[in-house]
Amino acid sequence: MKAITVVPGEPGQVAVSDVSEPDPVQGALLVEGRLLGICGTDVDIVEGGYGSPPPGRDRLVIGHESLGEVREAPAGSGFAPGDLIVGIVRRPDPVPCPPCAHGEWDFCRNGRYTERGIKERDGFGSQRWRIEPEYAVRLDPQLGDCGVLLEPASVLAKAWEQTERIFSRASWRPQVALVTGAGPIGLFAALLAVQRGLQTHVLDISDRGPKAQLVTDLGATFHTGDVRDVDVVPDVVIECTGAGPLVFALTKTVAPDAVICLTGISSGRRRAEVGLDEVNKELVLENTVVFGSVNANRRHYQQAADALAKADRSWLERVITRRVPMSRFSDGLHKGGDDVKVVVDLRS
Ligand code: BGC
Repeated sequence: MKAITVVPGEPGQVAVSDVSEPDPVQGALLVEGRLLGICGTDVDIVEGGYGSPPPGRDRLVIGHESLGEVREAPAGSGFAPGDLIVGIVRRPDPVPCPPCAHGEWDFCRNGRYTERGIKERDGFGSQRWRIEPEYAVRLDPQLGDCGVLLEPASVLAKAWEQTERIFSRASWRPQVALVTGAGPIGLFAALLAVQRGLQTHVLDISDRGPKAQLVTDLGATFHTGDVRDVDVVPDVVIECTGAGPLVFALTKTVAPDAVICLTGISSGRRRAEVGLDEVNKELVLENTVVFGSVNANRRHYQQAADALAKADRSWLERVITRRVPMSRFSDGLHKGGDDVKVVVDLRS
């Protein structure tokens, strides 16, 4: 069968080649890959030196945003041939640390977790893959190809869950949300904000392509330009760009007692002179919380599945703006102005 393999950090080494059928040690479910979403993490793996291959190998099967159809499922596994599933990305560390021992691998404390298609475990970028039933999430078949959006949505489900937990520190409830970045992650952050009844604003550096319309169709307000010029004082920010300077600017523009959740990372190396004492004073005097959120555990995949089921199906379909065949994986790594989510069709 064919798989998309990469040598992390060596862009010229991407290959779509024949590999052996997935090893049953990877899990009892045999799955036919349908679609594979591409995100910034994949670009960082191919070009930026992020990620690592399984021990003893130099190549990694890439891909962590999955969608596949079960082909073989043992009796008692809870799955049946024909089920549409998504694979959970992270596996607990071998020790395991206390959160990993409780199924909260997204809070792994020793860094020895593994991630499919990212860190020391082959991903889902192959015509067939295997997975352990306990790391597979069955989808509502109505979701069809939009199921490939579940993994990125799960990352935002966790971000919102944690944000809400922080807000339980006080009696007031947030009303105004700002999402920075209108890529797929920003759009899911906005979808979940709107579903929570928040007045939602989305800021992006560009209004090219379908992003502005997608935001408007959610019932949110689209802005472009500098965050300091946006006439909104948010109670909560979900930051989805990973742009360091923007993060510092946000600490100055939020309402008192705000929560700023950081979900993006950047491989950039921007440096700036920052008034650190000033930032410290602002955060303290305003009770501001700035926190990072990564990955998702099974509970978040379920929350994301519920959110996608409630979302407008045609809106979700419009988030997927381009499909590339497996052989053109590299073309999918670079987005054009009209792209939101690019996916690989593993069947072509
Ligand atoms: C994935 C997460 C993963 C993170 C860090 C993201 O793109 O969606 O599941 O934990 O990268 O590797």
